[in-house]
Amino acid sequence: MSVRIRRAEPRDAEALVRLGRDVGREPGRWLITTSDWRSVGDERRYLKALRRYDDAAVFVAETEEGDVVGRLSVGRDQHPASRHVADLGLMVASSHRRQGVGRALLDAAVRWAREHRIEKLELHVFPHNEGAIALYEQFGFEREGYRRRHYRRPDGYVDAILMALDINSTG
Ligand SMILES: CC(C)(COP(=O)(O)OP(=O)(O)OC[C@H]1O[C@@H](n2cnc3c(N)ncnc32)[C@H](O)[C@@H]1OP(=O)(O)O)[C@@H](O)C(=O)NCCC(=O)NCCS
Repeated sequence: MSVRIRRAEPRDAEALVRLGRDVGREPGRWLITTSDWRSVGDERRYLKALRRYDDAAVFVAETEEGDVVGRLSVGRDQHPASRHVADLGLMVASSHRRQGVGRALLDAAVRWAREHRIEKLELHVFPHNEGAIALYEQFGFEREGYRRRHYRRPDGYVDAILMALDINSTG
């Protein structure tokens, strides 16, 4: 795999908005957001704010040519009783799937989690997203619950599977 994983910078805002919109518009309906991804300005402000905020991070996968082809966002739960938990979101450009990019981004999330004393990573995935479920299960995530009609998209309600990874069980 010839992509490198690094922290996202404010200069990545445009590429990240494009990636989010492209993946959100795919007929597979993989994401909660569809084409209404946040604006480039909002994305840039968010990435700037992250520089001074220790409880969340965005990682990107970048090709040798400098194209951003993957994104992983992770954020610590803010409730005092669950600050050992962080939630994540992941997407890889359709042109770069099945090349290990998703797995490499998850590795970065686990490193970040360890550095921040996070013990558990969790995520929601739609039941029809068999590819993502396969990746998460192979990585060590386990199903913790099934949430009916948990998200509302323009095309209707969608169920979600709650999955989690015990960081202490990873190598
Ligand atoms: C799910 C997604 C992030 C996977 O990213 P990826 O870079 O293709 O994943 P990887 O190449 O690291 O896959 C690692 C392993 O996971 C499994 N896997 C990944 N995608 C799969 C698929 N579509 N079908 C079956 N297994 C799959 C395979 O075991 C794969 O290893 P292999 O290619 O050697 O067989 C990517 O398909 C994507 O962005 N999809 C659209 C957005 C999305 O669904 N995001 C997740 C929302 S919860």
